[in-house]
Amino acid sequence: MPKERVVLAYSGGLDTSVMIKWLIEEKGLEIIALVGDVGQKRQDLEFIRKKALAIGAMECLVIDMREEFVNQFLTKALAANALYENKYPLVSALSRPIIVKHLVQAAEQYNAQYIAHGCTGKGNDQVRFEVGAITLNPELKILAPVREWDLLTREQEMAWASERGIPVPTTVAEPYSIDDNIWGRTIECGILEDPWAEPPAGVYQLTEDPDKGPDEPQYVVLGFQKGVPASLDGQTMSFKEIIEALNEIGGRHGYGRIDMIENRLVGLKSREIYETPGALALIEAHKALEDLTLERDLLHYKLTIEQEWATQVYYGHWYSPLKQALDAFLLSTQEAVTGEVRLKFWKGTCLAVGRRSELSLYDYGLATYGAEDKFDREASKGFIDIFGLSVKTWAKQQRKLG
Ligand code: ARG
Repeated sequence: MPKERVVLAYSGGLDTSVMIKWLIEEKGLEIIALVGDVGQKRQDLEFIRKKALAIGAMECLVIDMREEFVNQFLTKALAANALYENKYPLVSALSRPIIVKHLVQAAEQYNAQYIAHGCTGKGNDQVRFEVGAITLNPELKILAPVREWDLLTREQEMAWASERGIPVPTTVAEPYSIDDNIWGRTIECGILEDPWAEPPAGVYQLTEDPDKGPDEPQYVVLGFQKGVPASLDGQTMSFKEIIEALNEIGGRHGYGRIDMIENRLVGLKSREIYETPGALALIEAHKALEDLTLERDLLHYKLTIEQEWATQVYYGHWYSPLKQALDAFLLSTQEAVTGEVRLKFWKGTCLAVGRRSELSLYDYGLATYGAEDKFDREASKGFIDIFGLSVKTWAKQQRKLG
């Protein structure tokens, strides 16, 4: 009988390297390792590919997912102004579903029965990988070795690896658990597990200390076409290039740090540090343009959809029917989101200080208190009489009752 196969989400790090060997030894599987480039700062990918093969993978696929990540995933996140618990721009929650999509595709292509990942048993990422995978292909079986094996400490893992000739890191382990992609960087563990402790300066890599940012503010004009960033300071650029530019500009001005206690799907609270200058600047600008161009009731309703969207995506439901229906709603709102926003970066802040659009609903004649006022003030009287009638009736009754 031919051996069964597994597609493993591979990073090149210790856990998933050990996993290649473990899946061969303990499960008797053939391994297809898959490395996704979502814009993370890591070792060179060719080196990672060779490492997987040297450990015993039959194949290692290195896939550049960056364009697809930006165009199919981040466009939707920006349309939703997506912030989980009003704070976190979903950095990891957005990258998992694209990796899952490629894992499932590879499993189908290589006739693999299994998908494996290196997530721990108490995080959100395991849910995102597994719920995503079964939504795309309910026939696939999932392996999560970290939940199963008895390599409980890093020392045990290193010893297990050394015995089998798997290269082990020679440098001291990072004191933090890091995940990153083009949308930002997440930092957990170590001293950060004390919610009272201020994060040491060393946790930050994308952002300057806000106090040390330049003394002069910097203005940036962002152009949007139907909700998608399309230019910076008048120059046409891709969404991806714009994110990269804003990560750099925001980071230099000390903008984009988040320090929060977050509710994980598995029911625990965790301390999270994020650095997401580009994502937060884009959401700020995108919201400012929506304020100008979306009709009031649509804007208000959209706010509730945005919340739901972020929660669904955080919970690993990228491919669910609800999430897809919310996407369709959001996409239809973006028709009007064309125009420009002026952002001002300064000492850890980024504010939208100007916005303009051919589709603007801002009517100077209606808004002004000056001589050109066109607003029908007399009509307000009758409007208020009727609008307030219900509570007025109630208040009269209350008074009667004392
Ligand atoms: N708490 C964040 C989330 O659930 C970050 C997760 C980071 N993942 C990681 N494997 N380090 O989306």
